[in-house]
Amino acid sequence: MSAAAPVSTNPSQHRKVTTLAFRQKKERGESITMLTAYDYPTALAIDQAGIDSILVGDSLAMVVLGYENTLPVTMDEMLHHARAVSRGANNALLIGDMPFMSYQVSIEEAVRNAGRFLQEAGMDAIKLEGGRERADAIRAIVGAGIPVMGHLGLTPQSVHQLGGFRAQGKTAAAAKHLLEDARILEEAGCFSLVLEAVPARLAETISKQISIPTIGIGAGAGCDGQVLVTHDLLGLFDRFTPKFVKQYANLHAAMKKAFTEYVDDVETRRFPSNEHIIEMTDEEWEAFQEEIRK
Ligand code: KIV
Repeated sequence: MSAAAPVSTNPSQHRKVTTLAFRQKKERGESITMLTAYDYPTALAIDQAGIDSILVGDSLAMVVLGYENTLPVTMDEMLHHARAVSRGANNALLIGDMPFMSYQVSIEEAVRNAGRFLQEAGMDAIKLEGGRERADAIRAIVGAGIPVMGHLGLTPQSVHQLGGFRAQGKTAAAAKHLLEDARILEEAGCFSLVLEAVPARLAETISKQISIPTIGIGAGAGCDGQVLVTHDLLGLFDRFTPKFVKQYANLHAAMKKAFTEYVDDVETRRFPSNEHIIEMTDEEWEAFQEEIRK
């Protein structure tokens, strides 16, 4: 028998994932896994699947709250959902996504809002969007002891500046700018970096040139890990599915089928049937009949 510690096959027995574990996985060449969650049951299922990290993304605004883009979601809404996620997940590294205008106005506000994710919502780290223009805020947040994940490429909070949800870094100049930004975020103290919707070979080059792990979404297999928006993966978001998403289920169709069957069952009185009702003893029933006859 090997002297090595047994590897658990039960995902619920996995150990808490840390930012250090992210770095170690990159060093060992192991791919880091991450998904988004916004509620307790989803966080529970993702955590039990043995994921490395759960992001409470500001994609909440679109896939759960039904907004056109991520701009309207507030700190308080993010914290509300982050708290539910932290109640469901024991092992994954939990990352709270800083919503629009929670870190852009001043460095003080950025640090305070980042701290709220840890203090009020049980998150382990925060994520924010942007490159060199965010370096000072990142330094201050990291200086307060809060791990920061960066986010480059398609940064949805800048949707109006970018002219839509478009791939980034497709010209030589834009690619050079992105690589420089990645180095700046590494130097500012980010423990990891999301690369969204950038050419695969650019993402691979960035991943090789920085020591912190890159987590790709629409950035190819050369990243150190992958993230998807869970509602895209599950086929729960009806408006559009980006080209880079692999859909593992069609829960929208499954939900619609279940709801349609329920409506039909109630209308035709097939539900509730005898197996769903609450019984009363004949004795109590007769006593009750007596009572109402009086
Ligand atoms: O908000 C989000 O879900 C994200 C991911 C797409 C990385 O930022």
